[in-house]
Amino acid sequence: ARITLRQLLDHAAEHSYGVPAFNISNMEQGLAIMAAAKASNAPVILQASRGARAYAGDRVLARLIDGLTEMYPEIPVCMHLDHGNGLATCATAIQNGFTSVMMDGSLKADGKTPADYAYNRDITKSVVEMAHACGVSVEGELGVLGSLETGMGDQEDGHGATEKLDESQLLTDPEEAQRFVAETGVDALAIAMGTSHGAYKFTRKPDGNILAMHVIEEIHRRLPNTHLVMHGSSSVPEDLQAIINSYGGDIKPTWGVPVEEIQRGIRSGVRKVNIDTDNRLAMTAAIRKTLAEEPEEFDPRKYMKPAMEMMAEVCRQRFEAFGTAGHA
Ligand code: G3H
Ligand code: 13P
Ligand code: NA
Ligand code: ZN
Repeated sequence: ARITLRQLLDHAAEHSYGVPAFNISNMEQGLAIMAAAKASNAPVILQASRGARAYAGDRVLARLIDGLTEMYPEIPVCMHLDHGNGLATCATAIQNGFTSVMMDGSLKADGKTPADYAYNRDITKSVVEMAHACGVSVEGELGVLGSLETGMGDQEDGHGATEKLDESQLLTDPEEAQRFVAETGVDALAIAMGTSHGAYKFTRKPDGNILAMHVIEEIHRRLPNTHLVMHGSSSVPEDLQAIINSYGGDIKPTWGVPVEEIQRGIRSGVRKVNIDTDNRLAMTAAIRKTLAEEPEEFDPRKYMKPAMEMMAEVCRQRFEAFGTAGHA
């Protein structure tokens, strides 16, 4: 059944678990996530970015979600818009059956330029008014995702700030977070603490200097009843990097967010954990392996099936690690 982000995260908070929010842009990713949710008996957040909506098309995406929720009526599913950039994008998501929207006002509508507090507050507040009138939840974001190692905002995949930022922008200010939640009425708050999107988050295993988990702890202390969201939460597993590279890929040495750091976040109010890159890596690893080992194959089902299986395994591991398993 389809549920809102608020309903799901309230339950997660009550039972002290986190929920992975997996990005989806095609049928195979949807089938893999749902198969994993079923196997783990876990509720799930499916999220589509503006790019995913453009890729699949809103009508196909909406029917895909209908199909997936009908196929697994026993699994609670929240359908969420990832990184909405304005009122219209959020409104059309709602028209297409999304039960939750993110208004990312940490950046201007171009998705690149860091926005000031007043812009973020005002646009987020109007999305909250509109979405709540429709019974839909809202995630806001305060602080800009980017690397504390380089001071650069997200650069990969063509989204995020690309200019040099200072630490006050890259780390969410706990006092400002308190004000932002009070002034906007968001259901969940995404914060910045050193993660970034994509495969290249850290050049070494992250420590407290480049992954600022203490910021989450301080925000949770001030906002114990606010559901926190961690973006850029892929772990970028070494074994998946190795499979890709051993079958002709070229992933440069890199580190993601260790699962134990996410577990630490979950103990401090993190309820929604955004993961896209790990699933992309899993599918690519399986496809490269299958095509290399069976060069005579050309039926897409022959490589998409192992791709779904490898992705579902990543999803199952996250449901287990975040304590989501068993809560459907
Ligand atoms: O926000 C980041 C997600 O990984 C979605 O990425 O905009 O390439 O679909 P995308
Ligand atoms: P990753 O690139 O780390 O998977 O992050 C995804 C994300 O934050 C989507 O909003
Ligand atoms: Na952002
Ligand atoms: Zn994100």
